[in-house]
Amino acid sequence: MRVGVAISGSGSNLQALLDAARAPDAVFKVAVVVSDRARAFGLQRAADAGVPTVYLPGAGQSRDAYDAALADCFRAHQVDWVCLAGFMRIVGAPVLAAFPQRVLNVHPSLLPAFPGLDAAKQALEHGVRVTGATVHLVDAGMDTGPIVVQGAVPVRQDDTLASLQQRIHTVEHQIYPLAVRWAAEDRLRIEGRRVHVDLPAGTPPALLVT
Ligand code: GRF
Repeated sequence: MRVGVAISGSGSNLQALLDAARAPDAVFKVAVVVSDRARAFGLQRAADAGVPTVYLPGAGQSRDAYDAALADCFRAHQVDWVCLAGFMRIVGAPVLAAFPQRVLNVHPSLLPAFPGLDAAKQALEHGVRVTGATVHLVDAGMDTGPIVVQGAVPVRQDDTLASLQQRIHTVEHQIYPLAVRWAAEDRLRIEGRRVHVDLPAGTPPALLVT
């Protein structure tokens, strides 16, 4: 399976996908990495892994025009699934129509809690005892699509934003490659809001608790 990844920043989740794609038992390949920011470090990670990169700046065009260009780019690289990995734009109809039920996102909270920006900060300030990370299918809303896998992260009394973010990231790096593997192995059955994962007996359940 060929995966296209969209990033805007550091790309540590992209790195987790690149590493998984390099493993001997890999079931997917990263076909292209697109960034809306020229200086995103993830572009360097992709180049280091020998993956084609595309810089697609957003300035001066409508959201629809941007999304049409993004969809064209993924199509040109014969992508089967799209992974958003710290991509700071909302992806709209042109991409969702080109890749129906085939766009994934990773978000640093246990959705539907704390959607949008600064999810770890929101969780810390709200005082929750458990937060985490979610991989979900992307729909027209903001962080609202059907959930594929979640990982829970306890919030410690002495957590700072940095320490909490770091543990959330570690979980993201586990669950994102897992979700993409399941997609590649055609294990995801979407029934309304619920995603059934056809797991072989003996594999971990679709909730990781760290
Ligand atoms: C991650 O926390 C992800 O959940 C959110 O943006 C962050 C991207 O981090 N959507 P990175 O660029 O993958 O390091």
